[in-house]
Amino acid sequence: MTHHRIHNFNAGPAALPAEILQDVQQELLDFKGSGMSILEVSHRSRWFEDVLDDAIVRIKRLLQLGDQYEVLFLQGGASMQFCLVPMNLALEGKPVAYINTGSWSTKAIKEAENLGKDVRVIASSQDREFTYIPMDFQVPSDSSYLHITSNNTIRGTQWQTFPQEGEVPLVSDMSSDIFSRVFDPAPFGLIYAGAQKNAGPAGVTLVVVRRDMLERTRTNLPTMFKYTTYAEKKSMFNTPPCFAIYVVWKVVRWIEDKIGGMEKMQALNEKKARLIYDYLDSQDFYRGTASPESRSAMNVTFRLQKPDLEPVFISEALAQDLGGLKGHRSVGGCRASIYNAVSVASVETLIQFMKEFARKNG
Ligand SMILES: Cc1ncc(COP(=O)(O)O)c(C=O)c1O
Repeated sequence: MTHHRIHNFNAGPAALPAEILQDVQQELLDFKGSGMSILEVSHRSRWFEDVLDDAIVRIKRLLQLGDQYEVLFLQGGASMQFCLVPMNLALEGKPVAYINTGSWSTKAIKEAENLGKDVRVIASSQDREFTYIPMDFQVPSDSSYLHITSNNTIRGTQWQTFPQEGEVPLVSDMSSDIFSRVFDPAPFGLIYAGAQKNAGPAGVTLVVVRRDMLERTRTNLPTMFKYTTYAEKKSMFNTPPCFAIYVVWKVVRWIEDKIGGMEKMQALNEKKARLIYDYLDSQDFYRGTASPESRSAMNVTFRLQKPDLEPVFISEALAQDLGGLKGHRSVGGCRASIYNAVSVASVETLIQFMKEFARKNG
């Protein structure tokens, strides 16, 4: 049976590979001969444990994580990490450093402040509406950690290279660019990502944590707020979000076995980004909003020269099965999110539509 599928440019929850959805559908009544759906088996059963174990092995391989890293699955979204990070990782009497590159960083900063931590916002791009990644900053050498947002989903900016701060561990919100490119994990003490963009469905948050960071966790934190609880119990202190983890497993398998690994994934993402930014730079009907040197390969934000036409652009696009092009409600404009599961063909279709729309309305 064929289904109506659109070109999905949603920012999150976002496109998943159709073959994964078909696979999930196929296995839904009988997972691996269990006679049950993955939604129905015990999380303590071998069916689920095999999924969890293989997901962890593959995530570690994709992110090139050594034995010093743990992969954890939590609930509460990336937003929960905004408070769990300072709760678990802020050291007594030492500041926590943040770089503010947009709404998500701002929210992370607010949570650390609410907890009464000594927060130092050492750089911000708020002066130019978060259209760039600050390059000039000094990290206090006694900082507990330096927090960044590797990809700014709303403003369409992305760290191109990561800061190296020696002794100060890097913590990154990678919700919107995890598994999109190769990077060296060495400077990172912790990485977190809500799964619902590049890694799977909403409902699970990946946390990658270096073991030495776990020694910081104070024993008097509530059990469910401590990273150590998840690390010690392989994310199964209580019932984990089994279905979401199962889909994440399918996604990491797809990256490894179908795409051919992280380098190939990155090359595809670069190709899509190049296609669309090259087009944006070649004309003046549309205008990219992010500074060229800080552009995101995941979320392409743009405006129309005639802003009145933006709602028309978005609705005509949808009528042609190009969905999710409305910018975030806090900034307006347009945004095409071109995560891993968005094909080169979808991006080409979008560019074709943009050209046609410009021709008719220019
Ligand atoms: C970079 C980034 N951080 C955090 C969040 C919030 O994630 P969640 O809804 O999982 O709390 C988002 C969601 O869009 C995001 O893009």
